[in-house]
Amino acid sequence: MKIKSAEFVTSSKIYTQCPPANMPEYAFIGRSNVGKSSLINMITDRKKLAKTSSTPGKTQLINHFLINNDWYLVDLPGYGYARSSKDDREKWSKMIDQYLLNRESLMCTFILIDARHEPQKNDLEFIDGFGETALPFIIIFTKTDKIKKDQLARNIEKYKLTLKEKWSELPQMLVSSSTLSQGKEDILNLIDKTNQLAKFD
Ligand code: GTP
Ligand code: MG
Repeated sequence: MKIKSAEFVTSSKIYTQCPPANMPEYAFIGRSNVGKSSLINMITDRKKLAKTSSTPGKTQLINHFLINNDWYLVDLPGYGYARSSKDDREKWSKMIDQYLLNRESLMCTFILIDARHEPQKNDLEFIDGFGETALPFIIIFTKTDKIKKDQLARNIEKYKLTLKEKWSELPQMLVSSSTLSQGKEDILNLIDKTNQLAKFD
């Protein structure tokens, strides 16, 4: 799929402020600093569409980007930000849970995992919680440019083994690198196919 246009629409504090749910939508979620905003820029070929930062906690709201006047990409704030207070974490949870559970046009959520690490507690907790909602999701292992191929394979295998302890079926998994533009085609093909199945007036 070709990206002909990509524009920022709005930032929302709560799902009720989001644009009308009249087009298919795809959200990116994962730990702070995992590369959600960078991935959105990479797949749209727009370096500054979503704001990125080397400091965790950059994205704070639900950000909608309209792609090809036809579907939305959504950049979400990350979890597990070490310097956030308990209060902030609770606010984050509420904002994200309400968005995920109530956004009727959400077709698929991409859960991003830093490919450099073995399974981390907060990522596993998030995946397990998400799995329990029965909402569709796909895991993307990010920053693969920062790790050797054999280590990447080992980390992904470890993830599969860990998830299999709890889940009988594994989610689809992709790999990405925003610096190498890896994963772009896979992600866009998946969105394209899903868009074709989606029914909106
Ligand atoms: P929050 O908004 O804080 O939750 O973070 P985020 O998940 O949106 O991460 P962001 O895209 O802002 O990227 C965080 C840092 O990681 C930035 O310094 C990026 O340049 C870097 N980064 C993101 N993706 C990649 C990647 O694929 N490879 C490398 N080497 N660096 C990356
Ligand atoms: Mg961000």
